[in-house]
Amino acid sequence: MASCMLRSLVVALLAASASAAAIPGAKATNATSTSSNSTAMLPLSSDDSFSYELLRTVSLSRSYGADTAEVLQAAGRIVPGDLESFSSAFSTLSNHVYSQALAINKTEDPVTAREAFFRASTYFRSADFYLHGNASDPRLVTLWANQTDAFNSAIALLPIPGQRVTLKSADGSFEIPCIYYKAAGANATHPRPTVILGNGYDGAQEEMLHATGFDALDRGYNVITYEGPGQPTVRREQNLGFITNWETVVTPVVDFLETLPEVDATKLGLFGYSMGGWLAVRAAAFEHRLAAVWAVDGLYSVFAPYYNALTPDVRALYDAGNFSAFDAEVNAYLDSGLAPTETLWSLQQGIWSFDVSTVSEFLRKTEPMTLDGISQQVQCPVWIGAPSEDIFFPGQPEQVRDALPAGLASYHYLTAADGAQNHCHVGAMAYVNGLVYDWFEEVLASRS
Ligand SMILES: *[C@@H]1O[C@H](CO)[C@@H](O)[C@H](O)[C@H]1NC(C)=O
Ligand SMILES: *[C@@H]1O[C@H](CO)[C@@H](O)[C@H](O)[C@H]1NC(C)=O
Ligand SMILES: *[C@@H]1O[C@H](CO)[C@@H](O)[C@H](O)[C@H]1NC(C)=O
Ligand SMILES: *[C@@H]1O[C@H](CO)[C@@H](O)[C@H](O)[C@H]1NC(C)=O
Ligand SMILES: *[C@@H]1O[C@H](CO)[C@@H](O)[C@H](O)[C@H]1NC(C)=O
Ligand SMILES: *[C@@H]1O[C@H](CO)[C@@H](O)[C@H](O)[C@H]1NC(C)=O
Ligand SMILES: *[C@@H]1O[C@H](CO)[C@@H](O)[C@H](O)[C@H]1NC(C)=O
Repeated sequence: MASCMLRSLVVALLAASASAAAIPGAKATNATSTSSNSTAMLPLSSDDSFSYELLRTVSLSRSYGADTAEVLQAAGRIVPGDLESFSSAFSTLSNHVYSQALAINKTEDPVTAREAFFRASTYFRSADFYLHGNASDPRLVTLWANQTDAFNSAIALLPIPGQRVTLKSADGSFEIPCIYYKAAGANATHPRPTVILGNGYDGAQEEMLHATGFDALDRGYNVITYEGPGQPTVRREQNLGFITNWETVVTPVVDFLETLPEVDATKLGLFGYSMGGWLAVRAAAFEHRLAAVWAVDGLYSVFAPYYNALTPDVRALYDAGNFSAFDAEVNAYLDSGLAPTETLWSLQQGIWSFDVSTVSEFLRKTEPMTLDGISQQVQCPVWIGAPSEDIFFPGQPEQVRDALPAGLASYHYLTAADGAQNHCHVGAMAYVNGLVYDWFEEVLASRS
């Protein structure tokens, strides 16, 4: 493949590797091997990155976030390697489903309208996904307003409507947008366990309701989703990139939950999806009111997978602090048109979400994002996901497991035998959420 050739020629910034593990939205299956491997998953595009994103989108069908044929129909219009075609296919679909939602909302069942609004919201997010290479593209604003409007219309129609809540960081330097979903039957005399759901490098809190939130509500837990700096709404509205001290985002959420009578504040779980696996464990090293943490998946260092993917020459430039030469090499590769979609996307997303202008600045911002030196401060049990085919990210979940204080790590190696081999186990959330919440019950039972 072209990327292999370029590996020796230019940079081989195999960001595929980084993205496959640190980030949802990157390749998690080896599509080139499917024809010769009957146990591999059928890809949805010959473009590995598109295939993964399409699987991620279609996987929300089981929890009201998509409908299978709508997504597969859009997939048929997407040209491998053509980021605009991905956006255009989902833009068309989102407008179509949003129009349906508006029409239904006027005359028909609120359940039907709610479902259409949820699907439209997902598709607006998908239309935005590959556009972050140009931070001034006006669609980043309009599509996000659209996804938010559609989602708000949907959660207003839930049996117990979801509530937007905006919290402040302790030092007042940023706001934390949250959405709170009270469990049916939760009240002051019967307070419930509550899960705090956070996404990662590129996903929205809205996605979390579908990925795992409904499964938590079904089990009687209250749910709150949140976003911090670098994540979609905060990045757009407050112009803030990712920060390392993620506890400054989580602690105000815990403070807020402690004020709610229907929340049993001794039974809080923090769920981190994708790069959120790092963010959640980082927060738990400093925020000790959590009963349990999920790292889906385990990530010890955000920097390492990118750095390890550099070719020796390019790594030498980075090590020498010769960032202008480093960025020139990387940009030449990205501009060559030969970089795989996942490489291009993950570096564009890094620059955008960390709010920097070069790849070297992005990498430097990730350097302190490690559990090194803080992992022993974690005090609660941690469920660590390790997908067998996050093939570019070897050793990270195991490093998290080995770095935690004795007895706190619950390590789960998940494989193709259960369809759970992909990054974040996308498409296998009925199975994985079952593992996740059954384990939560065991943790809570062992404490009481
Ligand atoms: C993908 O599969 C092909 C064919 O089996 C193999 O040559 C290649 O090394 C694999 N790539 C990775 C990254 O595992
Ligand atoms: C075939 O795919 C399975 C699961 O997807 C993987 O575990 C196995 O290593 C692959 N085998 C080969 C020969 O690529
Ligand atoms: C949906 O219908 C409700 C109830 O009539 C209305 O308040 C709301 O504004 C409608 N939503 C949209 C997006 O038009
Ligand atoms: C980014 O988008 C803006 C607005 O559409 C446009 O004016 C500008 O030329 C684009 N920049 C690049 C580098 O494509
Ligand atoms: C999306 O948002 C833009 C800007 O707010 C608005 O003009 C447009 O009508 C919205 N589209 C849909 C389908 O709601
Ligand atoms: C609180 O919830 C429990 C269980 O859902 C229910 O039996 C009880 O009636 C509720 N109490 C109040 C005051 O609503
Ligand atoms: C940085 O690297 C470039 C390309 O190898 C080289 O020409 C330049 O002298 C280096 N700059 C410094 C300050 O080392």
